[in-house]
Amino acid sequence: MRYDPENRTFDCDPTLNDSQVLEFCREGYLMLHGAVPDEINERACQYLNGEIPVSPSWLPDGVTVAEVERMRGTHEPSGILLEDWFVEHVLLNPALAGAMRSLLGAHTGLPVLVSNHRVECPAEAQGWHHDADRVFGPELEFAEVFYFPQDTPPELGPTEIAPRTHISRSDGDFTGESVLAGGPAGTLGIHHQSILHRRGASTASGVRHMLKYNYWRTSPPCRDWIEDPEFDPRTAWYGGHAHCQYVAHMLWWLQGQGDEYRIIGGQGWPFRTPNQIGPSYGYGRPDGYQPDWRRNPDGYSR
Ligand SMILES: [Fe+2]
Repeated sequence: MRYDPENRTFDCDPTLNDSQVLEFCREGYLMLHGAVPDEINERACQYLNGEIPVSPSWLPDGVTVAEVERMRGTHEPSGILLEDWFVEHVLLNPALAGAMRSLLGAHTGLPVLVSNHRVECPAEAQGWHHDADRVFGPELEFAEVFYFPQDTPPELGPTEIAPRTHISRSDGDFTGESVLAGGPAGTLGIHHQSILHRRGASTASGVRHMLKYNYWRTSPPCRDWIEDPEFDPRTAWYGGHAHCQYVAHMLWWLQGQGDEYRIIGGQGWPFRTPNQIGPSYGYGRPDGYQPDWRRNPDGYSR
C-alpha cells in the first residue's frame, strides 16, 4: 500500500480480475462482508455517538478542532476522514483499496465528504430512488462505498439495492429483484452511484449507522487490473437484452477503449444466450453504433 497523505491518494496492486471488473459493470455493486476489524468498528460507532474525543491527525486550511467537533454532530461527519485509525483500517482497507484501485486506476483519490445515514430503528423502508446528480453513462469517474460499523442484519434495515439498475432511470414503483446489502459489522459495499436503492425496513430497536462516501479516479482508464486467462471478451456474459450493450461499453471505457466501442445490434455481440451454437456476430467491428445513453433524461446534455 502506497498512501500519499499530501495528495490524499493511494496506490496498491489491483485485486479484481477481468471477470470481476465485468461483474461490477454488469451488476452495479460488489460486497465485502465483515472486512473491517471489530475494534475499528467499535471505535467508529463511539466516534459517531460522540463517546470519544475527536483526534484529527491534521487539519485542512481554516478548519479548527471545534469545527471538526461541530461536523461530527451533523449528518456529514467528514472529520472522521482526518482520524488516523479510520484512514488506515477503513479507507485503506486492503480488500476495498484493491477493488477501488482495479476500478478507478492508479493514484485513487480518497473521499472528501462523508454522509452518515443514521436511523432510529424500527423504521419504514425508504422509497426507491437514484441519488441526486447521478450520471448514466459508460464512464466510471468515481465509485461509492457504504460502511456498516455495527452488525446490520435484515432487522436493522440495511441498504437495499436493485442490481443492474445503474444503467438508466427506473420510473414508478420498482417491483423487481433486490438484495439487502448488509452483513456483520465492518461490511463494506461498493456500488455505482447511479444504482437504484433504498433504506430497507427495520423491525429491531436501536441506532443504525451507515457511512457513505466516494472514491475518485485521477488517472485515465486503462486495463491494468488482474488478467484472467479464462476471460474471453467475445463470449463473456454482459447481461440480457437492453442491458448488455451498455455493460460492454462500460468495460470498454474502463479499458481505455470507450471511443472505439461499436455494436451492430439485435442478437449481435455483446448479446448471447447459452443456446447458441457459435459465438455472436459483430465482435470487434470498427463500424456500427454506440448505445444512446442520453435516452435517459438525467439532466446532462451529453
Ligand atoms: Fe440514497
